[in-house]
Amino acid sequence: MRLNPNLLTLPTYPTIAIDRKRDDLLSAGRTVYDFGTGDPIEPTPDFIRATLRANIPDNCRYPTVRGEPGIRRAFADYAHRRLGVALDPETQVLPTSGSKEAVFHMPLLCVDPRAPDRGVVYPDPGYSVYHRGAVLAGGQPCPQPLSGDYIQRVWELPRDVLRQTRLVWINSPHNPSGAVMSRSDLLRTWEVCREHDILLVSDECYLDVWFDEPPPSILQVASEGVLALFSLSKRSGMTGYRSGIVAGDPKVITALRTLRTNPGLAPQDFVNAAAAAAWSDDDHATARRLLFGEKRRLLIDFLEGVGLEVTASTASFYVWVKAPDGDGDAFAARLLQAGVLTNPGSFFAVTPAGRDHVRFALVPDLEGCKAAIEAMRPLFDAA
Ligand SMILES: Cc1ncc(COP(=O)(O)O)c(C=O)c1O
Repeated sequence: MRLNPNLLTLPTYPTIAIDRKRDDLLSAGRTVYDFGTGDPIEPTPDFIRATLRANIPDNCRYPTVRGEPGIRRAFADYAHRRLGVALDPETQVLPTSGSKEAVFHMPLLCVDPRAPDRGVVYPDPGYSVYHRGAVLAGGQPCPQPLSGDYIQRVWELPRDVLRQTRLVWINSPHNPSGAVMSRSDLLRTWEVCREHDILLVSDECYLDVWFDEPPPSILQVASEGVLALFSLSKRSGMTGYRSGIVAGDPKVITALRTLRTNPGLAPQDFVNAAAAAAWSDDDHATARRLLFGEKRRLLIDFLEGVGLEVTASTASFYVWVKAPDGDGDAFAARLLQAGVLTNPGSFFAVTPAGRDHVRFALVPDLEGCKAAIEAMRPLFDAA
């Protein structure tokens, strides 16, 4: 059977590759300290689970793309509390089935695969779905290599690249580096996008996982031509619920809603009810943040103590570490000898950017982090 050739160009999805490594270790009877996939193990708060259960009806009918008003209102209230931004829940907020599908589908909104100006800019290293969504929509992937502080400076892109671009992705806090863009970075990005009539989409799924000060949102500095993606996966420990939000420019939201009726992208009403409960409560998000902060401190203290360089890692639950010999793949393989599973930077990059780093996701619990540190120690004692 002839398949879509674009599909065949895509490398193995990073979580599949990392899961294989974990399964190989487990079947060899080894203990695995899993800092690989960003899917933490802390339980979803009871009140969220109870709300989900209470909202399963006798007859579960089709949900609508725009979702019940309750989820949109709960998110608008959250945006007001957390960001000081007033959003109209009728016209500026849409629920998604997690942010991954929203990332994947976004290029379909603004990319014409037959047009010369079909560029999709995204951070590299970065979340691999920016690239995958662009390729499968027939867009022209334009990875923007990051290094140093891992801040994406869209305003430094050549003007001929910007002229060919329809969609710019930014991601702050950034996966895999944990770098955070400042308000002025966000504003400069938006100004460039406006000048070139580019849709700016800010992936903010780690916005509530921070340690020193809350990261800013694009919605605090801009509205026209802008969307922001939010997620309950990281904020509320709800990866399996598949629940996110897209919010922003009402004209773009209307177009997105129309697009999403075609595949019928609509989270279940009982998931939206649980999501409304989660967005309405900040205490559980704070408790999770503090717990991630403890794990992060432990790990960073150890890594820096053995002489490694931790880069960016300001927010999100990722710790981004420079490989001692500049080879992230070799360093990840060395850590694996101690049973410590990480993602080498090469898993996130289309260009050579970030290949000299390794990402630790703060997945194991505190005891697991302590045990992993003891397992790693001999690797550095011997060095
Ligand atoms: C940067 C980034 N965006 C989006 C997602 C998808 O998150 P969700 O669980 O909301 O689909 C992830 C997941 O790890 C991510 O790292």
